[in-house]
Amino acid sequence: MDKVQKVLVTGGAGFIGSHFVKRILQAGDVTHVTVLDALTYAGHIENLGEAFLSPKLRFVHGNVIDGDLVDQLVSEHTAIVHFAAESHVDRSFFAAGTFLTTNVLGTQTLADAAMRHGIQRFVHVSTDEVYGPLLEGSATEDDPVRPTVPYAASKAASDLVALSYFHTYGMPVCVTRSSNNYGPYQHPEKIIPLFVTRLLRGEPVTLHGRGQHVRNWLHVEDNCSAIELVLRGGAPGEIYNIGGGTDLSGRDLTSELLRICDASWDSVTYIPDRPSNDLRYSMDWTKIADHLGYQPTHDFATGLVETAAWYRRNPDRWAPLSRNPHAPLPAVRATAARPERDHVH
Ligand SMILES: NC(=O)c1ccc[n+]([C@@H]2O[C@H](COP(=O)([O-])OP(=O)(O)OC[C@H]3O[C@@H](n4cnc5c(N)ncnc54)[C@H](O)[C@@H]3O)[C@@H](O)[C@H]2O)c1
Repeated sequence: MDKVQKVLVTGGAGFIGSHFVKRILQAGDVTHVTVLDALTYAGHIENLGEAFLSPKLRFVHGNVIDGDLVDQLVSEHTAIVHFAAESHVDRSFFAAGTFLTTNVLGTQTLADAAMRHGIQRFVHVSTDEVYGPLLEGSATEDDPVRPTVPYAASKAASDLVALSYFHTYGMPVCVTRSSNNYGPYQHPEKIIPLFVTRLLRGEPVTLHGRGQHVRNWLHVEDNCSAIELVLRGGAPGEIYNIGGGTDLSGRDLTSELLRICDASWDSVTYIPDRPSNDLRYSMDWTKIADHLGYQPTHDFATGLVETAAWYRRNPDRWAPLSRNPHAPLPAVRATAARPERDHVH
């Protein structure tokens, strides 16, 4: 395993980034970790909690599209792990410009600085959603990207921008694409914490369509372990799918959450589907298992119970976010004229 010393983590006050920071601070070879985070509605310095006890950690409040700041920070580091992004699909339906600015221009700003300063490792963190929906089979890293929503399109574009710096300049870029993460510290706009926090308060929840959409649920710590493997041993210019979670439809996931939160189907209302809602994602993650020895270790049933327990224990953490004035989303409805987007690779 390669050594890393000074790691710049963008978006490290968000859900996955904060778990990754806590993990990488434990590594003996890592001497400095700098978090660069704009603290948008999704970023919370409290997510880093006990990480601040480490003398290795520095927090910088700033934006990944601030070229001067990024240039200065990149010059002080040997590796970059780039999490910072607008990450919520529903928001991308009415704020696509923000998604493109942060996700695409932010990646380009970072990559420019990384190239100038000869960074040794650049891990760009991405998503299975770039492959678009698959009715059957699983996407490999060689498959084309076919994003259907602005969020996934911005991530696909940022993946291609990052990889172009490998092809053009030989920059040591790797891209990770993981399935849906779950675990503590996730913003309650995302389905698992949204449902858990509402059900714990005795409030109703809503399911899109017939709850038929299938997602692969991966514990956030499994994703972070895979990202560290890529950081240390990923081959430059390569994409690594990170899967191995549990496939569940929205309906089946809801059923699990109702059971864990002692609620019944009376709490669930079906609402019209959103403008675009990919029926199923699925990735083949053989490559990272074979080449880098990745194996997820978290059992979904246990992980989900523990995640719900964390929200139950920490209402002070999520209750203010649930009341966040930035949080409400306008109702976005599917139109009857919507073309059929699900396709088979
Ligand atoms: N959550 C998932 O299930 C999932 C799955 C696959 C991939 N991903 C990817 O992983 C990464 C992290 O996802 P997450 O769920 O932790 O997201 P998140 O929304 O919880 O966190 C994003 C973080 O980025 C910060 N940020 C946003 N815009 C910024 C900017 N312009 N400059 C600096 N910081 C900025 C936010 O303040 C926040 O701390 C994203 O790139 C996302 O696309 C997420």
